[in-house]
Amino acid sequence: MSTASSRYSTVAMILHWLIAALIIANVALAWTADEMPRSTAAGLMAWHKTFGISVLLLSLVRLVWRLTHKSPPLGDHLKAWERILARVVHWAFYGLMIGLPLTGWALVSASPLIKVYPIDMFGLFHWPAIGPLANLPPDQMKGAHETWEEVHHLLAKVLIYGLIPLHILGALKHQFLDKDNELGRMIPFMKAPK
Ligand code: HEM
Ligand code: HEM
Repeated sequence: MSTASSRYSTVAMILHWLIAALIIANVALAWTADEMPRSTAAGLMAWHKTFGISVLLLSLVRLVWRLTHKSPPLGDHLKAWERILARVVHWAFYGLMIGLPLTGWALVSASPLIKVYPIDMFGLFHWPAIGPLANLPPDQMKGAHETWEEVHHLLAKVLIYGLIPLHILGALKHQFLDKDNELGRMIPFMKAPK
């Protein structure tokens, strides 16, 4: 039911801001846990896992929504490189919004601790471990855990030091230098671009 509106639909906006808030909270939780004694860190990391799996589920919904609904066309004033960069960053985001939680899920599944501390989804149910990883023999499990941990850290770095700054700087450039109201495409109470 999409029209040629110049802004994203309410559903797309809600999902965008919910996922963005959970991702930023998750980075803050992981960084804070790093500085804390073990007992406090475990509590913070339990929330990190819950939020991370929530990002995975919400991002899958968002991807389906994105593929089944037209997004507002990019403004005609954008240069070719701006269009390409926006598309690359947006699709790379989708890759990481799904890939990052998957690698987190893999790294905790490849650990004997998953049997003692399962991933608790807001006290409602336990998110299962990835069977083939949780049932590896101990020597292989350690290697798998370390590999997925490295990939998780690497993807987190690409997100934190690459995509998020590019995305925010891009949004601010359009808003304040180009003055094309691009933020209004994604922020409901702002003026929509023409
Ligand atoms: C971790 C945080 C964030 C993630 C993962 C994220 C992800 C995304 C993605 C995937 C899109 C493309 C939507 C689509 O076409 O399907 C998008 C669009 C957008 N985001 Fe974000 N975003 C984040 C934070 C922010 C922040 C902090 C701002 C504001 C400064 C922002 C402003 C926008 C705007 C204005 C658009 C529309 C761009 C356009 O199509 O012209 N985002 N975001
Ligand atoms: C939105 C999704 C996620 C983001 C943005 C994220 C981000 C991060 C970051 C920034 C770190 C710290 C990396 C470092 O110290 O260099 C981290 C560590 C960790 N993450 Fe995630 N994560 C996400 C999802 C998950 C999920 C779904 C799980 C498990 C179910 C998970 C489990 C872990 C664990 C156990 C660590 C600590 C590993 C270690 O440093 O030894 N993460 N994550």
